[in-house]
Amino acid sequence: MSIADATGVERQRDLLDTAGKVLAGGGLGMFNLPPEVNLVVAEGKGSHVTDVAGREYIDYHLGSGPDLLGHAHPAITEAVAAQLPRGTTYYFLNQHAIRLAERIVEAVPCGQRLHFTGSGTEATFFALRTARARTRRSKILKFEGAWHGMHDYALWGTVPTEPSDYPRARPDSAGIPSSIGEEVLVAPFNDTERAVDLIDRNSDQLAAVIVEPLQRVLVPRPGFLEAVRAATSRHGIVLIFDEVVTGFRIAWGGAQERYGVVPDLATYGKAMAGGFPMACLVGSADVMSALDGRVLPRKELAWASGTLSGNPISAVAGLAALGVLSRPGTYEQLHRIGGRLRSGIVESGRRHGFPTQALGEDAVFGVRFIESDDVKNWMDLQRHDRALGLRWGVECLKRGLLVNPNEKFYISTAHTDADVDRTLEICDAAFAAVRA
Ligand SMILES: Cc1ncc(COP(=O)(O)O)c(C=O)c1O
Repeated sequence: MSIADATGVERQRDLLDTAGKVLAGGGLGMFNLPPEVNLVVAEGKGSHVTDVAGREYIDYHLGSGPDLLGHAHPAITEAVAAQLPRGTTYYFLNQHAIRLAERIVEAVPCGQRLHFTGSGTEATFFALRTARARTRRSKILKFEGAWHGMHDYALWGTVPTEPSDYPRARPDSAGIPSSIGEEVLVAPFNDTERAVDLIDRNSDQLAAVIVEPLQRVLVPRPGFLEAVRAATSRHGIVLIFDEVVTGFRIAWGGAQERYGVVPDLATYGKAMAGGFPMACLVGSADVMSALDGRVLPRKELAWASGTLSGNPISAVAGLAALGVLSRPGTYEQLHRIGGRLRSGIVESGRRHGFPTQALGEDAVFGVRFIESDDVKNWMDLQRHDRALGLRWGVECLKRGLLVNPNEKFYISTAHTDADVDRTLEICDAAFAAVRA
């Protein structure tokens, strides 16, 4: 761990000061680290990042997921460097986007046709529109606590602190027209009976059920996804798996492969483009035909387009990332490293007397302090000790782990056993500090 140098510390303080003045909310999104550990990243290499003050961290945030291969993986930087002098975007077809679409369609169990977007938000937004166009119905069902991005249909019951008045939920954000709430039904995750009942009772109005198959850090209970699949199939409702997090991460074939349930449509983002801005919806030829202007008249077409969608820079990055991920042994190694961390953190936390759980999957999990061993939905999860999670996260940050407190640990293929050893030492010291 390098020692922070004084000029770097001052430069970082200046930058944070400027960020506080010029960026709305002081950050790049809605998230800011607590002031005492806030930082500006200078560079990332493999599993490590360095801030402007010169402090090095082991990175478990990975750009909120996209850097599944770690930072600046040579396969990705070389592919992008080779493409840069050939142009960055054309709008017309390019060979790399075509090859990447082919690769993803082959990898994703529900994949027959693909449409590129710029972000996961855009992908879920277009997926819902595609489902509406295909079914000629307008309502959607989502699950409480599921994150599908920032559009007006996604932000209902995403982070409530009180249970929703199911199937009605409150909008998460200011500025969302209340009329959209008429179109969005919300149910608790993993509540099979309630979900199936809602689907059956609203079947003539429901265009789609959208689900994060691994909902943040909540694993689907056996039979839940299967029952939702069966009910949606029964009524011709489009089942959408939001695989923006799980795609190419928890398995090569994503959650569909991991949990053995195949939806009609899936949304991908984050890891699929190796840290470059690109996402997609991918699904059955039947549902995706709603996007086919070659056969549909304009007024029946689900409109979906974006200036930079399918750009060759993101496409070559995606192809390089998938090339590395497809190598034999990748997922075994990712899961082994993540599994070691999960069990090590749980053991350490419990030894210090904290009710520690590492919920989720080995490649992406969340450390939560919660007694119950029956955490199946968002409201169950609300019983976790958020203040303790923040204190522990801050102590980890102070000691050189780049984490977002009370959020997820993302594991990359660049994390090594030495990283895990060091991380577990830091986690243990952080628990000791919190206890003291
Ligand atoms: C499951 C899921 N879907 C969609 C999104 C939105 O993706 P983006 O931030 O690229 O718009 C996210 C973002 O974190 C996500 O976790």
